Amino acid sequence: MPHHDSPVPSPHDADWWRQAVVYQVYPRSFADSDGDGIGDIPGVTSRLPYLADLGVDAVWLSPFYPSQLADGGYDVDDYRDVDPRLGTLDDFDAMVAEAERLGLKIMVDIVPNHSSDQHVWFREALAAAPGSAARERYVFRDGRGEDGELPPTDWPSSFGGPAWTRVPDGQWYLHLYAPEQPDFNWDNPEVREDFHDTLRFWSDRGVAGFRVDVAHGLSKDLRAPLRDLGDQRSYQPAALPVDGSHPLWDRDAVHEIYRGWRQVFDAYDPPRFAVAEAWVRASRRAAYASATGLGQAFNFDFLGAPLAAAGMYATIDSALADARRTGATSTWVLSNHDVVRHVSRYALPGDSTKHDIEAWLLTDGRDPVPDLPAGVRRARAAALLMLALPGSAYVYQGEELGLPEVADLDREDLRDPMWVRSGGRVKGRDGCRVPLPWAGEGTSFGFGPGGSWLPQPADWGRYAAEVQRGDEESFLELYREALRLRRTLVTDEELEWIGSREQTRQGLLHFSRTGCWHVVSNFSGEALPLPQGEVLLSSGPLTGDELPPWTTAWLRTGTVSGR
Ligand code: GLC
Repeated sequence: MPHHDSPVPSPHDADWWRQAVVYQVYPRSFADSDGDGIGDIPGVTSRLPYLADLGVDAVWLSPFYPSQLADGGYDVDDYRDVDPRLGTLDDFDAMVAEAERLGLKIMVDIVPNHSSDQHVWFREALAAAPGSAARERYVFRDGRGEDGELPPTDWPSSFGGPAWTRVPDGQWYLHLYAPEQPDFNWDNPEVREDFHDTLRFWSDRGVAGFRVDVAHGLSKDLRAPLRDLGDQRSYQPAALPVDGSHPLWDRDAVHEIYRGWRQVFDAYDPPRFAVAEAWVRASRRAAYASATGLGQAFNFDFLGAPLAAAGMYATIDSALADARRTGATSTWVLSNHDVVRHVSRYALPGDSTKHDIEAWLLTDGRDPVPDLPAGVRRARAAALLMLALPGSAYVYQGEELGLPEVADLDREDLRDPMWVRSGGRVKGRDGCRVPLPWAGEGTSFGFGPGGSWLPQPADWGRYAAEVQRGDEESFLELYREALRLRRTLVTDEELEWIGSREQTRQGLLHFSRTGCWHVVSNFSGEALPLPQGEVLLSSGPLTGDELPPWTTAWLRTGTVSGR
C-alpha cells in the first residue's frame, strides 16, 4: 500500500526525483537487528515503515559494502556485495521489496574516486610489478629525490598528510583521502567499464538512483611530468579555477565519464537517477547536474549559509537560477554524515565559521557553551524553509528528531580517519554518526538488542522516535506534518519572492509558491508582523499577528504581490 493520500506516482515516472524528499541512512548507525552494535540492512528494512510514515519519497543508503572501515565504509572492498556484518545480497533484495511495497525508492552511494586497499584490484596491483597493467588501474609513480624517497608531487590528502604512500618496491600510489583509499585511474577504460557493470548490478536489483561520492575528483591530469600544486594546495571550492584547469579537482574531462554513465542510466525504465557530491564553484555545478550528466548536484551553499534573511535569499535565488539553466532541480541540505548537526551549529554564535566549529568540537562542545534551545528553534525554522523550497530536500537520519551533535565523544572512541591523520587537530565526523535513539530507554535506546559502536549520550532517550511520536510539539511531528502538507501543496517548481528589500534587511524572508502558499521566515531576534493568511503550520508558537524571532510559518492566502 502506498503511504500517502495523493495519487500513487507511476513506477515509470522519470521525474520522481525533481521534488522528492530523500532520507539519508548511515547504515551502521541506523538500526541494528542482530545485537552486534552495528546497524545493518535487516535493521533498515525493519524501520522502513517508520520512514514511510514520516512521509519521505526515497531512502539513500551511505555505503554498506564490504569495507575495513578506514573511512566509515567509503573505503570499498567490493562494489557488488553487502558487508557480511551488515547482511547479505538477499537481505538487500528483501529491503528493496519492502521499500517498493511501501512506495519508497532506494538509492545507493557509489564511491568511484577510490576503492579500498583491500579491493582485489589493489591487491593485484601491489603484487604486480611497476608498469604492469594491474598498476595502471590505480595511480602508481616513481618518487622524486636521488632514490625516489620523496613523493612524486606536493599533492595533499584531504584527511591530512601527503596524498602519496610508498610501497615496498619503491613506487608511490596516489590517495586523495586516507592511504587505505587508493585513487582509481579513470583514464583506464577497464575502470570505466567496471563501474558501468556496478551501476547495472544495482540498477538490476531495483535501485532507483545513485549518490555519487566525490564526483568532482575522478579525472586528474596524469600527464608526465605531474604538476605540483604550489599555492593551490589548500582546497577551497570557491578558489578552484573557473576554467577547469586544476590538476585534480573539477576538470572538464570528468563530464565525459558521466556521459557514459547517463547511457547506462537511460537504458532503464524509468531512467536511473543520480546526484553528484561535487564541492565545486557554484558556477561550475551546473555541468554535473545536466541532463546528459548525472542529473542533479548537491548544493552545499545552503548548508554553509548563516541563518540570515539576506544571505539565504541570495543563496536560494542563485541555486534556483542554476537549476533553471540546467533543467535540473536544486537540492537543499542542512546536515549529512560529514558535518556537525545543524541543531548544534545554530546553537553557536551566528558568525561561526567552519574553522570555529572545528575548534568548538576540540573543546568537546564546551567553549563556547552552545545555546541549545536557540539551536532547536532555528533548526525548526530552517527545516520549514527547506521543505518549502522547489527541488529535492535531503534529510539526514536523526535530523527529524532534532538530534544535536555528540561533541564530547572520548578521544579513544573516535573512528574518523581525520582525527588521527590531522594529528589531533580535527576531531572529525563521529559526533553526527552516533547510532539513533528509537526508544526512550533500554539497551542502546532501541538501536538494537546489543550495544552501539559509538557510545550514545545518557540523555539520548529524550530524542527517541517513540517518545516524540504523537507529541504535537516535537521535532518529529513537525517534519511529519510538513511532509504531509508538502504532498498536497507542491504542484509546480516555481517560487515568487514577496516583500521589499527593506523587509529582508530586517530579517524577513517571504516567498509564495503556487500563488497562495506563502512561506515566511523571521531570521532576526525581534518579532516581525505576520502577513495575513490562514496558518497551515509554524515552526514555533505564533503570538497574535506577530511572527516571533527565529520562526517560519506556512500560510494560505489569496494575495500575491511581486517583489
Ligand atoms: C565524501 C564522503 C565522505 C568521505 C569522502 C571520501 O566526501 O561523503 O564521508 O570521507 O567522500 O570518500
